[in-house]
Amino acid sequence: MNDSTGGPQEPSLFGDEVPGRRLAPVDGGDDTVGPTGRPMPHFSQPPPLTTHGSATVIAMCNQKGGVGKTTTTINLGAALAELGRKVLLVDFDPQGSLSVGLGFNPHELDLTVYNLLMQRDVTLTDVICKTDVDGMDLVPSNIDLSAAEVQLVNEVAREQTLSRVLAPALANYDVILIDCQPSLGLLTINSLTASDGVIVPLECEYFALRGVALLKDTIDRVTERLNPRLQIIGLLGTMYDGRTLHGREVMQTLVDGWGETVFHTVIRRTVKFSDSTVAGEPILSYASTSTAAASYRQLAREVWARCHAV
Ligand SMILES: Nc1ncnc2c1ncn2[C@@H]1O[C@H](COP(=O)(O)OP(=O)(O)OP(=O)(O)O)[C@@H](O)[C@H]1O
Ligand SMILES: [Mg+2]
Repeated sequence: MNDSTGGPQEPSLFGDEVPGRRLAPVDGGDDTVGPTGRPMPHFSQPPPLTTHGSATVIAMCNQKGGVGKTTTTINLGAALAELGRKVLLVDFDPQGSLSVGLGFNPHELDLTVYNLLMQRDVTLTDVICKTDVDGMDLVPSNIDLSAAEVQLVNEVAREQTLSRVLAPALANYDVILIDCQPSLGLLTINSLTASDGVIVPLECEYFALRGVALLKDTIDRVTERLNPRLQIIGLLGTMYDGRTLHGREVMQTLVDGWGETVFHTVIRRTVKFSDSTVAGEPILSYASTSTAAASYRQLAREVWARCHAV
């Protein structure tokens, strides 16, 4: 792997190549110790806000498919809304999974993020939908967006298109989360150009780290050429199963390679996520007292702390 990216080299996933390292004990649900044996800090509840804006814009990004980008966008968004933050979710994937996951039928949408990008007479107010979660709105998407990737190529400042159309929302929201499609094409470059930070969800599986160096390289190039304020907020382990040596080794390798960039919060594997998608609502309302809901609430506090550390 090319290590000219300036970031950490893609770490090996095979634990026995790192001598003397200590794997965490089999996941026993100890709240004070994370899955890799890192002490778990306490993330306190941020104080209520008296005014809203200016929004922190976060891209949920990994070119690998099925790693938990959409699930994290919905549930982190809902958890931030529970904290009293005003949240706008942007579905920036032609699959429209974020819209479906919040109970919208993509085929029935008159206006989507595609119209917002491509038609100058369509405004944000025209496309924003209220969700069933208090304080959380959605810019929906459907298959129309797949045409934008080609059509944007001929636009002036094509990489800044999303940033331009989202600008009026910054004053009204505290957080804007952009759910990216699994690719590093022009739509994802638009998301990165519009964002202050990136969260990279990674499935705790072998080969999870493949491609992270390429993603880091892309982020670095966007930072250099298009958006100097862009930072990696954190790498998030998802679908973690602490009962398997395999899961614990992947998590440990992630921390060995990326250190504190890896969130302390880890999302465990549970079927409740697919159930809540079918129900078209976040796990925070579908299974409010579940461990999964608690993890996303903790992630919201950790993300807020990382974004607002002075
Ligand atoms: N922690 C978890 N435990 C179990 N299943 C999960 C978990 N997180 C997500 N899933 C399931 O895994 C599948 C993929 O998740 P999701 O759609 O969030 O990934 P994605 O990265 O957005 O995928 P894509 O790249 O296709 O957009 C979904 O069926 C989802 O319900
Ligand atoms: Mg998705």
